[in-house]
Amino acid sequence: MQNEEASRTALLIAASLVLLHGHPKYSGLVSKTSADLCAHMLERYSLQTRLLLKIIRQGWFRPIAKLIERVTIQGILLHYVLRKKCIAALARSALGNGTTQVVIIGGGFDPLSFELHENFPGVRLWEIDHPATQLQKVRPFPKIDAERLHFIPVDLNAAALNGEALIKSGFDPAHRTFWIAEGLLMYLPAEIFSLLIKTLKGLSASGSQFAFTFMEKQSDDRIRFHSQSKLVDWWLRERSEPFLWGTTRGGLIDLMRPWRVIRFFDHDNLRELGPGLADEPIAKGEVICLAEI
Ligand SMILES: C[S@@+](CC[C@H](N)C(=O)[O-])C[C@H]1O[C@@H](n2cnc3c(N)ncnc32)[C@H](O)[C@@H]1O
Repeated sequence: MQNEEASRTALLIAASLVLLHGHPKYSGLVSKTSADLCAHMLERYSLQTRLLLKIIRQGWFRPIAKLIERVTIQGILLHYVLRKKCIAALARSALGNGTTQVVIIGGGFDPLSFELHENFPGVRLWEIDHPATQLQKVRPFPKIDAERLHFIPVDLNAAALNGEALIKSGFDPAHRTFWIAEGLLMYLPAEIFSLLIKTLKGLSASGSQFAFTFMEKQSDDRIRFHSQSKLVDWWLRERSEPFLWGTTRGGLIDLMRPWRVIRFFDHDNLRELGPGLADEPIAKGEVICLAEI
């Protein structure tokens, strides 16, 4: 990603949450709190995102959004929203079963940490993200509870995830942690993924879990959504956010050791997370993996 600017993809995902929350058919897939938090971040980010927010809240924009999806990645909006719903449910389940720490890596403008902070008063949370994105995320929230919700800026291409910075802000490796890396790893080279899982292992008490997404390599070795158009390839390259890494499910199980892969969730599993989605296009190619140590 470009070094001084927040991730454009992260902004797009925040906009998707607002858009689908306002859509009568999909409204129930995104909580009002999530949509409001995303709207607040878009409102404060720039003049363009404020304008975008106004536009995506209009009913007339919905067919245009469908058209944009058709020429970019068919089904990407539902993919983003369902991917979030799935990971949030996994996090909530871990927190209901004795996990007391959550670390979100590459959180972008995802409102999950704010929601979990609100709903789980005994839990401590950290977000680790590229400084350019993180700066823009915290700016609209001047009263963040610095006791329980911590923000650590790191460019993972330039420096490894720093356990010391986590521990200095109260992270305890002896407590069970739920780690999240959603929509991040495809932007990092394979070596950084290997380093990351080693680092996380060293910081994880037994029973800790790691939920992350990865691009499933296609049979021709390409790393992209199946319905991704050339326009998107070009846009990701232009924005310096090209997909760098992908793998197969079997390959991932090997790469993850000693983490145990518990299960994968793909577009068909995501489809089951909401009513009336049986015939809806949902972008195929990015898979959620839940692993445990
Ligand atoms: C596609 S966004 C996903 C955001 C969020 N996880 C979500 O799903 O809504 C990618 C995220 O990865 C982060 N990212 C990309 N390259 C990074 C790097 N080198 N170091 C740290 N974070 C990075 C971006 O800042 C952004 O927050």
